[in-house]
Amino acid sequence: MILLNRERNSVFQRFQEPLPCIFVKRYIAKLCDSVFCFEPGAMLLVENVKKAYREPNGEVLPILDVPRLAVEAGEQVVIRGRSGGGKTTLLNVISGLATPDSGKIVVQTTDVTRLSEAARDRFRARHIGFVFQTFNLLAGFSALENVLLGMTFTGQRHDHHRATELLQRVGLGQRLSHKPAALSVGEQQRVAVARALVNRPVLLLADEPTANIDPAHQQQVIDLLRDVCRAENVAMLLVTHSPEVSAQFDRVEHLEELNRVMAVVKH
Ligand SMILES: Nc1ncnc2c1ncn2[C@@H]1O[C@H](COP(=O)(O)OP(=O)(O)OP(=O)(O)O)[C@@H](O)[C@H]1O
Ligand SMILES: [Mg+2]
Repeated sequence: MILLNRERNSVFQRFQEPLPCIFVKRYIAKLCDSVFCFEPGAMLLVENVKKAYREPNGEVLPILDVPRLAVEAGEQVVIRGRSGGGKTTLLNVISGLATPDSGKIVVQTTDVTRLSEAARDRFRARHIGFVFQTFNLLAGFSALENVLLGMTFTGQRHDHHRATELLQRVGLGQRLSHKPAALSVGEQQRVAVARALVNRPVLLLADEPTANIDPAHQQQVIDLLRDVCRAENVAMLLVTHSPEVSAQFDRVEHLEELNRVMAVVKH
């Protein structure tokens, strides 16, 4: 069922008007916000998200102040911006790995900022694919097992066929039983790409997925990400420093324009 903002407003008004108590009104408003938080067409909606870190000396260091970012189902978006600008932090708060200080992050119809940590973990496992900048493969498991592990947390049956096919498509068909230590850095990154896609996510977050890969395999990884996302209508947010990669995408967002902190703080 698609729940629209205008429906939220009509329900909100109908229940609000007769209510005498301000606390009950606030409760109803919160309930409406959590149920009617879907924007038509948007698979991802980031609104007024702020994140700061507190330094050991007590100073507050603002990292993110993003008024709005919307990505439609199946849309493929590149994010560029200087090192330290907050790209990884933005992907972390979108995925629920980090919590913003304020703001709303809606994936499909769920505002992930309102979920408990355990619920966020379950939601991420089921709906979001993440290619980490640092891969995060488990050392004791083979390439194939690392990809299959992505399915364990969702309670699905392991789909060996899909996991193997994805690994073959990134050129690792002969490396299925190799553990991370026996893989090159670029090969590990390609395993991480396959793992992010194995659960058929609705949203894929890829943090510099080609940073450690030679040009030939770089194109293979980009082709895999784009083909799978197109075929399965996955919204993709891809961070890259590579002009060759970003030139292949229709929509390129610059962090300097998305993130007000970067407009204010000139390093
Ligand atoms: N846990 C933390 N505590 C304090 N500061 C942090 C923390 N995590 C990140 N930062 C700071 O937040 C800023 C943004 O970091 P982030 O990793 O998001 O940058 P980035 O744009 O991804 O950079 P790169 O392109 O180098 O990967 C950096 O200045 C970093 O030092
Ligand atoms: Mg980063």
